[in-house]
Amino acid sequence: MGNCQPFAIMRLTHEAIRSGLKEIKELISDKYVDVEKLKATFNDIKRVIQLHASQEEAVFYVELSKKKKGVTSHFTSEHEEEKQAFETIDDLMNDVNSDETQYLLIDLLNSWVDNHLEHLIHEEEGLMNLLPELFTYVESVQVVRLIIEFDLEEFEHFQLKWVYDRLNSKQKEVYLGMLKGCSPANKFEDFLAKLAIE
Ligand SMILES: [Fe+2]
Ligand SMILES: [Fe+2]
Repeated sequence: MGNCQPFAIMRLTHEAIRSGLKEIKELISDKYVDVEKLKATFNDIKRVIQLHASQEEAVFYVELSKKKKGVTSHFTSEHEEEKQAFETIDDLMNDVNSDETQYLLIDLLNSWVDNHLEHLIHEEEGLMNLLPELFTYVESVQVVRLIIEFDLEEFEHFQLKWVYDRLNSKQKEVYLGMLKGCSPANKFEDFLAKLAIE
């Protein structure tokens, strides 16, 4: 746990989101779709993605743009498109009352999942690969602390555990190392308690 890779927070949140998207794909490929379960699973992953995207727009993209002007503009528009997709899916999700509306919902979810998977790759290839050359270690820690502090309440009470639970054991170790190095003052112990780690 001694080795802290600050930006692992972003990369591993992407991995957890991938795992959540896989759950959605599985739920919609079932012969009899459990709409209530689908709704709950979708609402949770949407909640995680919304915080992650806000952290990116309010902190991560801002800090990246300071280092390399214009590098994030394309990604903000992908977020905007996704916000519209969420509205359409939410509307339909609350109004599934026939086979037809269910097929439509499945179609929408399928294309949203595919688009989101592409967005993750775009950010990883277009932004995350630049991080080592743009930020010193000390700067990375500062940026990641700001990311965690952006909505500390939501991070601590929802995103943290949702993400952690979806990581494999090696990824969990890296995530904990990141928390140890980048948590805001006096928060590391609270975070461990939320993850039920002594
Ligand atoms: Fe994003
Ligand atoms: Fe992202």
